[in-house]
Amino acid sequence: MKKLTLAVAATVMMTGSAFAGDVDAGKGKSMMCSACHGAAGISAIPTYPNLAGQKEAYLAKQLTDFKSGKRNDPTMKGMVAALNEADIANLAAYYASLK
Ligand code: HEC
Repeated sequence: MKKLTLAVAATVMMTGSAFAGDVDAGKGKSMMCSACHGAAGISAIPTYPNLAGQKEAYLAKQLTDFKSGKRNDPTMKGMVAALNEADIANLAAYYASLK
């Protein structure tokens, strides 16, 4: 299963343009996000937003904007620094898939 996920992620990366987010790959990457945004994308902390069920394109845009600095939040800037375009697409797909 893990191998399959990696293969899918690799395929997504190799195909380059028009990233279609992979929910399973996003879930795998979401461990470090869950500390703040909750295991199922529902945050227990008032100042940390819920991500579950948010629109995929919106999530991807926010993550891209945190990375570029267009949206400035010191906490999230650190979180997205190590993410590439495919990771962002996968995370957005994962959180959008949650209820
Ligand atoms: C240390 C706590 C913390 C961690 C870990 C964290 N975040 Fe965040 N995140 C925040 C906070 C705080 C905000 C609100 C920022 C603001 O006020 O602009 C936020 C905002 C966001 C937003 C914007 C939501 C919206 O409604 O606009 C997204 C998307 C997001 N985080 C995704 C992630 C992802 C994906 C990860 C894992 C790679 C992650 N976060 C890890 C604290 C965290």
